[in-house]
Amino acid sequence: MRFVDIIEKKKIGQALTKDEIHYFIQGYVNGSIPDYQVSALLMAICFQGMNDQEIAWLTEEMLYSGDVIDLSMITGITCDKHSTGGVGDKTSLSLAPMVAACGVHIAKMSGRGLGHTGGTLDKVESIEGFQIALSQEAFIKQVNEIGLAIVGQSKTLVPADKKLYALRDVTATVNSIPLIASSIMSKKLASGADTILLDVKFGEGAFMTTLEDAQALASTMIRIGQHFQKDVRAMISNMNQPLGNAIGNALEVEEAIQTLKGKGPKDFTQLCIEAGSIMLLQAKKAASKEEAEAKLRQVIEDGSAFDKLVEMVKSQHGNINQIYHPELLPKANHVIAIHAKTQGYVKKLHALELGVLAMELGAGRRIKEDIVDPAVGIVLQKKDADYVNEGDVLAYVHTNHSLSDAWIQRFYDTFEFSNEKVDVPNLIYMVLDQESIK
Ligand code: URA
Repeated sequence: MRFVDIIEKKKIGQALTKDEIHYFIQGYVNGSIPDYQVSALLMAICFQGMNDQEIAWLTEEMLYSGDVIDLSMITGITCDKHSTGGVGDKTSLSLAPMVAACGVHIAKMSGRGLGHTGGTLDKVESIEGFQIALSQEAFIKQVNEIGLAIVGQSKTLVPADKKLYALRDVTATVNSIPLIASSIMSKKLASGADTILLDVKFGEGAFMTTLEDAQALASTMIRIGQHFQKDVRAMISNMNQPLGNAIGNALEVEEAIQTLKGKGPKDFTQLCIEAGSIMLLQAKKAASKEEAEAKLRQVIEDGSAFDKLVEMVKSQHGNINQIYHPELLPKANHVIAIHAKTQGYVKKLHALELGVLAMELGAGRRIKEDIVDPAVGIVLQKKDADYVNEGDVLAYVHTNHSLSDAWIQRFYDTFEFSNEKVDVPNLIYMVLDQESIK
């Protein structure tokens, strides 16, 4: 087999065989196929796409390029959840304790943030002492004992994706549904859970900018799940404005804690309840969506969801005082209020730019090697459809440096106002499963 023939085949829009996809992934991981040839194939995939069978084979080859976690020692159904990433997306921090408090086992392997989107690991690491590296035995034991664990992805999980993603990042080949779907699903399947809920975001702060693309990505990933006989479902949610109010690691942990106490922002709480109810149905802990939602509201009300977070933090050696007293979480030296210079209804809030601005404060990484500052970020006081009077606080900026005039101007530019009343945008557009995508 010659790799150049595989590139040629995809270039003219033909489907690759299982053997050809095997040859591609094996050869790339073992170093016998060079980056420049793989770049050419990736670009051809971006233009020509792949059919469902090719995508399933690609996922399978990537999945078995490294270790596959065996969670069979966990009793009952094990559930996982994945978000395609967004600004202010701290969902796992509230959702995992909520569903665990309802009796679902959550074995979650998370990643770090890059660019304008944050990663769950960076957020939990703003809790002093929190250990994200657990042995597989300790991970399984913790899930069996307390129902949840959030750990870092093992280095031996899907090496093909690590290499491919790094190459895609520098060859403008990230944005392709077959490549994104196989990348996400190979890692999720290798993480070993029985069910997977995908939160596929669309909008300007997300990988997919339109609802149609998000739906196509979600359907592709559900079909991959079907190939592996896994219960994979997806919700499509709006990322045109940040989720919740806080953007930045410790600030998001604090917001997640408030949400577990029933005092979180409305949009973020709604997303957690919606996601949680799908997970309860997947884990067969509720017979209907209504029952699932009632259970989730109950565990917030009676404090057991909050207690689950405390148990997890304790078990992973984090400082639980910071959970009981979030004011003990890392704090920035300055908290600067930014006041509105105009009045009107918020018509648009540019999530992507807000994510970039928070990253520039130190809340995220421009490049992988950057060190994240856990304390800094932005806490919005006004969001889409809110009415703003001149002088109102738009946001508090938590920073360890002074803010430049240019930064402040760019912050102002993230808000667009209208004199007309604006409708509150939808947060969750649809929920998809194997039935609904037929
Ligand atoms: N997240 C992933 O894990 N992979 C992609 O390709 C895009 C987003």
